[in-house]
Amino acid sequence: MSRVLIIDDTPEYIEMLGDILSDYEIFAAKDGKKGIQLAQKILPSVILLDINMPELNGYEVCRRLKLNKELQNIPVIFLTANEGTNFEEIGFEVGAVDFISKPFNTAILRARVSTHINLYKLQSNLKKEVANRLKEIKNLNKEMMYLAASIAEMKSKETGLHLKRVSSLSYLIATKLGFSENEAQELKMASILHDIGKVAIPDHVLNKPEKLSQVEWEMMQKHAIFGYDMLKESDFELMHLAATISLEHHERWDGTGYPKGIKKEEISLVGRIVAVSDVFDSLLDKRVYKEAWSPEAVKSYFQDMSGKQFDPKITQILLEDFETFLETRNSLEI
Ligand SMILES: [Fe+2]
Ligand SMILES: [Fe+2]
Repeated sequence: MSRVLIIDDTPEYIEMLGDILSDYEIFAAKDGKKGIQLAQKILPSVILLDINMPELNGYEVCRRLKLNKELQNIPVIFLTANEGTNFEEIGFEVGAVDFISKPFNTAILRARVSTHINLYKLQSNLKKEVANRLKEIKNLNKEMMYLAASIAEMKSKETGLHLKRVSSLSYLIATKLGFSENEAQELKMASILHDIGKVAIPDHVLNKPEKLSQVEWEMMQKHAIFGYDMLKESDFELMHLAATISLEHHERWDGTGYPKGIKKEEISLVGRIVAVSDVFDSLLDKRVYKEAWSPEAVKSYFQDMSGKQFDPKITQILLEDFETFLETRNSLEI
């Protein structure tokens, strides 16, 4: 049953309205302050608000309701009696949706209340529906990204969780660098695709246990550009972020990386982050061409490579909290 809140300082009006609107669950308050408190508690579907009341008048009550995030969308109908000439103007200005004049006409009152309740419900349902759909789209998006990424992963036969670990480690670095939760989440998603370009690299190169020949090595390096080319045309911001990461995750701070050989801040921050998380995880991983490194060996590698291969600031973040990074990585190990 829909809830109707009446705020009026005259008990007779409250009683009268209660009788006429007996199809609804009625709540009432005799002054504005109590009315607002009650509204917060019961979240009514419509508020019938008297204009002339001692202390807070109806306009002020309405202003306050509209400032409250939880209450601002609830329709307010003013109850009016000899309010002068411009009451409607002020009423609409403060956010009312309608007016009902005293003494009440039963049929008009019922019709207006029912119309506004229905509109309000439609609007709230629509909002919920949109929120649900958005969530669904986001989840679908996430799944599709994982799916695409895992194709590249399966092909290169890297340990199953490398992508998830790079993604979580990048998220951890981002939060430590002061990214907002939203930005860190986007990086988390986008970094999954950092090696998507490997789908275009021949298997015999990708999975060769011996050292690659010069030609093979050049071919292997192309995965950065292949990934970029696959992602850059997308209409979605997230894919552009993934494109940048794919392109720049093998660049080095000192300019000796690939494919462009750019250095320092010429490399995007997200590229520098994933460069660290990708190498951190790869070194700890067993690959077809190498054994897994010990945490100590990885730590001293990053100490040596700070300011050479890696952004010193990001390396410092990793080294300062090395245990947390190890734990985060290991928590994703099954
Ligand atoms: Fe890569
Ligand atoms: Fe990787």
